[in-house]
Amino acid sequence: MTIHCFGSINVDHVHRVAHFPMAGETLADDDYTVGLGGKGANQAIAAARSGAQTHFVGAIGKDGAWALDLLSEAAIDISGIALSDAATGHAVIYVDTQGENTIVIHGGANQALAQNQIDTALARSKPGDWWLAQNETNLVTESIVAAKARRLRTAYSAAPFDAVATQAVLPHLDLLAVNEGEAAALRDHLGHDPDVPVLVTTLGAQGVMIKERGKESAITLPAYKVTPIDTTGAGDTFIGTLVGALDQGKDLIAAAETANAAAALSVTRPGASDAIPTAKETAAFMDSHA
Ligand code: RIB
Repeated sequence: MTIHCFGSINVDHVHRVAHFPMAGETLADDDYTVGLGGKGANQAIAAARSGAQTHFVGAIGKDGAWALDLLSEAAIDISGIALSDAATGHAVIYVDTQGENTIVIHGGANQALAQNQIDTALARSKPGDWWLAQNETNLVTESIVAAKARRLRTAYSAAPFDAVATQAVLPHLDLLAVNEGEAAALRDHLGHDPDVPVLVTTLGAQGVMIKERGKESAITLPAYKVTPIDTTGAGDTFIGTLVGALDQGKDLIAAAETANAAAALSVTRPGASDAIPTAKETAAFMDSHA
């Protein structure tokens, strides 16, 4: 099958800092790098590196040709990526000495996706393929509703979090991924836990919780004990690897175990998409931590 990733592509400007700047503070960084990010690009790369056939639907500006090269190098089909008049999206990321991050994004071309890109991608799709989306582009709800209507399996990572946008897509989802904060905010907004076939809640250093509809209790997978140097994109690595493994036929828990290991390995490396491991690297990591 195929994973169709409908998502963002960002230029990540990463500043390593001794601490996060406070209001009114000017802070000199310790290091500065530029790399490929965006929740869409990160998740697509994670899916592709897990071994899944992956197509990307997104947009870049004239300044973004290098991003296409990197996505292509990861064996992602980039024919669904449009050239926009807007600049390629970007993110300004601060990473502190604990590996934690804060991120500000500018949407740019990510907010200029067109309905015909969705139509073209879905015309190439087959029932049972995955449609994988996040909340960093326009037309997210429209794309998920259209994908579900064509009997694709749909996965949504509710980040950056918007309670109303998340509520709108819930009836059309097979899999919802949230972090702890997003889960609490969504529960507050709905007045109850979201009712989706699979709810994945990433818990950072506590691991990940998987709840399947109709099953009494959730399963929690503990996190691997690693020393993080940069947690940027760990959640993207998890969800991209998870959907990649499901697409390749793994059952939910086996897929989550693989994704848990890929995410753990990613935080031991700097950068977002650069840090995402291949299937071989993830398998070796799992063997060495068995
Ligand atoms: O989830 C991490 C990503 O969030 C970064 O790569 C950045 O581009 C923002 O989209």
